[in-house]
Amino acid sequence: MQERLQELQTEALEKIAAASDLKELNDIRVAYLGKKGPITEVLRGMGKLSAEERPKMGALVNVVRETITAKIEEKQALLEEEAVTAQLAAETIDITLPARPINRGNLHPLTRIIEEIEDVFIGMGYAVAEGPEVESDYYNFEALNLPKSHPARDMQDSFYISDESVLMRTHTSPVQARTMEKQKGQGPVKIICPGKVYRRDNDDATHSHQFMQIEGLVVDENISMSDLKGTLEVFLKKVFGQEREIRLRPSFFPFTEPSVEVDISCKICQGHGCNVCKHTGWIEVLGGGMVHPNVLEMSGFDSKKYSGFAFGIGVERIAMLKYGVDDIRHFYTNDVRFLKQFNRFEV
Ligand code: DAH
Repeated sequence: MQERLQELQTEALEKIAAASDLKELNDIRVAYLGKKGPITEVLRGMGKLSAEERPKMGALVNVVRETITAKIEEKQALLEEEAVTAQLAAETIDITLPARPINRGNLHPLTRIIEEIEDVFIGMGYAVAEGPEVESDYYNFEALNLPKSHPARDMQDSFYISDESVLMRTHTSPVQARTMEKQKGQGPVKIICPGKVYRRDNDDATHSHQFMQIEGLVVDENISMSDLKGTLEVFLKKVFGQEREIRLRPSFFPFTEPSVEVDISCKICQGHGCNVCKHTGWIEVLGGGMVHPNVLEMSGFDSKKYSGFAFGIGVERIAMLKYGVDDIRHFYTNDVRFLKQFNRFEV
């Protein structure tokens, strides 16, 4: 009996060692340790043994059973580990494969120009102001020294909303009056205001019924024309390059006196004359002037104590010149082939 047990153990251990997967191992466990297995059979035969031999044999059976069980567990742990390792190997991701390029969106060129201009003015201590696009006749015209009968109202054909007292703002200048009113006669005021404006124009390569402006306004004691000139020079050189020259020409706006139009030297021909500057060597970029005393007074500022300058920048015009865009409509039709060209990062 003892020999039989020894044989069984050797046989079982050999099979366990040779088992190549968990199923095989489980079959071995059932075959040797199961109820119908040979060890159980040996136990059953113990009834025939003498009272002396029985406990010895019982102890031996236990040892054999424990040895086989231990080996099975050991082998099971090994096979499980091998299975995990194999699975990991099979599921390895090849991280050396180059990733597919991700299509990144980019800012609209007008947004970019506005942010660039905002940065320049914020750097000079300006705040960014806002105003409504649906505006009252008072702020759009009246408060800017354009009374009802004023002929200069015709310069800006308007979209009216209900009657003649509510309209789509024709420029960002009403924000001047709104900001000054809020400050209740107390300087300084130093703002820029980017935004959409609307005019009854027929769309073509240089006109659009909706476009963007950036208004600028500074009101304080002792503000002079040279402050305006210096400010615009800093701004224009930052945006168009330090080598640009600027020139002020006398002009007319009802809300400024004196008024100027501002040109920069043509970048394309370096001032020698080309198609872009219409052979003048100069390109008009914005309008401005000293805030008219009537405008200051109407918005609650004492024009004897305070003076100020204002300017209005056409955003599309700046973008067209800076990026060499020949048709204003490109900005609104949003052809991806056009927009994608602004996908480069500039520092
Ligand atoms: N509002 C003017 C326009 O739309 C532009 C402008 C000119 C604004 C002179 C100003 C300014 O603030 O001082 O044509």
